[in-house]
Amino acid sequence: MEEIFDRAYIVLEEIKISSPETVEALEQFRIQYLGTKSVLKDLFGAMAQLPSERKKEYGQLMNMLKAAAEKKFEELKVMFETSKPSTKEIPDLTAPGFNMPLGTRHPLSIVKNRIIEIFSRIGFTIAEGPEIEDDWHNFTALNTPQDHPARDMQDTFFLTEDKNYMLRTHTSSVQIRKMESEKPPLRYIFPGRVYRNETISARAHCTFHQVEGLYIDDNVSFADLKQTMLYFAQEMFGKNVQIRFRPSFFPFTEPSAEMDISCFICDQKGCVVCKQSGWVEIGGCGMVDPSVLENCKLDPKKYSGFAFGMGVERITQLKFRVNDLRLYFENDIRLLKQFSSAV
Ligand code: DAH
Repeated sequence: MEEIFDRAYIVLEEIKISSPETVEALEQFRIQYLGTKSVLKDLFGAMAQLPSERKKEYGQLMNMLKAAAEKKFEELKVMFETSKPSTKEIPDLTAPGFNMPLGTRHPLSIVKNRIIEIFSRIGFTIAEGPEIEDDWHNFTALNTPQDHPARDMQDTFFLTEDKNYMLRTHTSSVQIRKMESEKPPLRYIFPGRVYRNETISARAHCTFHQVEGLYIDDNVSFADLKQTMLYFAQEMFGKNVQIRFRPSFFPFTEPSAEMDISCFICDQKGCVVCKQSGWVEIGGCGMVDPSVLENCKLDPKKYSGFAFGMGVERITQLKFRVNDLRLYFENDIRLLKQFSSAV
């Protein structure tokens, strides 16, 4: 008779310690303790075997068992239901993504990329050089030895530790690096940042960008230079643009010229951009001086070539009409967002 009680107490313990962890395990629990063929049903059935004076006590025990099983089942059921992701929360994997706001390219990058694209179509390859340059590459090899007055054309930031090093004042230094390390034919453009010790204003900055070009081969002539520049100007500014060369001086080119394009803004009628002259300057150029070739161990009797250098800010100003140079370096998103990559 006590065995019947013992069995019931064991089942009560089982119910208390049982902890179904999944929906399926909870269903097993329900079948085992609360279903039509449950253990509890069996235990209820055993009541018949008890003498009547113990039936009440056993009945109370049975109620406890049933209540314990029901309580556990209800609690776990609620827990599983609330932790189970509802259909609303299941992400719709087919839904279109959130729109990420797209950044825009800096106007200088847009123009630089366009310059690169134009020159690469006619066989120029990009090369780069260091921004901290030595005296040889920035000046001496470019026919501008120490104490040469042409050094004053560019105010230089020297390194305080060693005056033989400086922030490059122009990308012409990369010409030297290329001519020293490779044999002609050389057909390169060198885009990059340059530095000059200038007071910052709307019209001058201590850092700006240039694209240098170099073409060395046998029989390269000034006519090749003119045609290359004309092609560039018309691709960049439009088919009706004309170019003009004004005699000039650079130590590393002979002859040297300053290149102007016809003012496409006013159609040469005269405006603020061309200062009523009908022409705007976009860079310097010339035939590489024979002594520069010699400095790079290239035979000037065998090779000739042209070089040019243009300011990316200058061309961007013409393209986008942003006149204050400082705006290019402030990175104000309100300015940057106004330019599209189509130039
Ligand atoms: N390096 C010159 C400057 O920064 C620009 C320049 C002029 C580059 C004539 C050239 C050139 O390659 O041939 O002012």
